[in-house]
Amino acid sequence: MSTSSQRTAIVTGGGSGIGAALCRVLGAQGYRVAVSDLNLAAAEKVAAECGGAAFKVDVADESSVVALFESACDWLGKLDALATPAGISDTTPFMELTVEKWMQIYRINVIGTFLCIREAVKRMEPGGRICTVSSVAGKRGGGLAGTAAYSASKGAVLALTRNAARVFGPKGIAVNGVVPAGTKTPMGMQVMPTAEAQAHAMAMHPIGRLAEPEEIAKAIAWLLSPDASFVLGEMLAVDGGVMMD
Ligand SMILES: NC(=O)c1ccc[n+]([C@@H]2O[C@H](COP(=O)([O-])OP(=O)(O)OC[C@H]3O[C@@H](n4cnc5c(N)ncnc54)[C@H](O)[C@@H]3O)[C@@H](O)[C@H]2O)c1
Repeated sequence: MSTSSQRTAIVTGGGSGIGAALCRVLGAQGYRVAVSDLNLAAAEKVAAECGGAAFKVDVADESSVVALFESACDWLGKLDALATPAGISDTTPFMELTVEKWMQIYRINVIGTFLCIREAVKRMEPGGRICTVSSVAGKRGGGLAGTAAYSASKGAVLALTRNAARVFGPKGIAVNGVVPAGTKTPMGMQVMPTAEAQAHAMAMHPIGRLAEPEEIAKAIAWLLSPDASFVLGEMLAVDGGVMMD
């Protein structure tokens, strides 16, 4: 159990990419971190690196999410922060998309985020902080690699985040999100597999390069920290200028 002054967090998708980087950043900041992922072996590796504990979860499965929050909160003692990077990408062309594919993406990216927010809020005191993970695809309708179902799911995460901020802000729980652009993670490399695809993506970023996962993680960590105390319902672009007007 954490000491009462030690901040605590649950991170979904903590086994890879942005979530893993976030677990390491939070661990270095002194958090007690519950590292959760569908891939338990990956979560265990990250937990060992950040002094946390690993938990298996399928965010698309309601009973699995409830079980995560029960066991992780037992281990943490209290819950100060939640981040929800767990997600999947998709590059199925529009005309080849099936309802089954839509539902798979929606269940993980949108309903998974909803379930985690709901279970976190049940267990948070005023002062609790939540950060979701959308994507520039959710604002631009894709255009980089993600296509219709992925873009729509990330647009839904954006609206869900703002709704949760409205509902829970008056109760003292701050909900915000980040809007990353191309990031060098296993998912990022999966949708930009070739040097040509990466060069194309880089050219879309005014900063001239892709993000390191730690650069997204540090923005999430700030939104989870008391330093962001007056920030609510913000979808913070961490995108190397992609969304600049
Ligand atoms: N990498 C990018 O370029 C990029 C850009 C914008 C937004 N994002 C978003 O950032 C988030 C993190 O992406 P990443 O690039 O770190 O991806 P990643 O694939 O490296 O990591 C995602 C993690 O989520 C886990 N996961 C997948 N389905 C799950 C489920 N049902 N339950 C629990 N865990 C599950 C995976 O096992 C994996 O460990 C995603 O929501 C993604 O959409 C990524």
